[in-house]
Amino acid sequence: LILYCLNGPNLNLLGTREPEIYGKETLQDIEKIASDKASELNAKLTFRQSNHEGELVDWIQEARNKASALILNAAAYTHTSIAIHDALKTLEIPIIELHLSNPHSRESFRANSYVAPCANGVIAGFGSAGYSLSVEAAVSLVNKRSI
Ligand code: DQA
Repeated sequence: LILYCLNGPNLNLLGTREPEIYGKETLQDIEKIASDKASELNAKLTFRQSNHEGELVDWIQEARNKASALILNAAAYTHTSIAIHDALKTLEIPIIELHLSNPHSRESFRANSYVAPCANGVIAGFGSAGYSLSVEAAVSLVNKRSI
């Protein structure tokens, strides 16, 4: 079982980027947390980050025939990208929208998500723990277990 976990712009700076909002762990730390949880559940995680919208679209397209589920923290593109929305619409696998922070408790411009209408569920506000929670949720959805 292969899970894709894709991360959008500025998440490469985790650890030093607004740590009071996003936590002190680096993206590498988070990759380890998520991969460990995946191995525990007999899944394999493909974990990537890009600052470029088109690259994220390419990877979402790639997930169509390579992944059993997609976990997506689209970062700021969550709130702006119709291209990512359209790419997600082409997927038939489960999609989990993920955020470290809770966008709904922040600025009003974070209230809209172009990812949410395409997602089976949303995990937000749990910091780095959200990555292992979303791996669990993804595996559950693939196995059609209720969560
Ligand atoms: C984020 C929330 C977004 O609003 C923001 O633009 C990000 C990170 C999160 O993980 O909390 O870059 O997706």
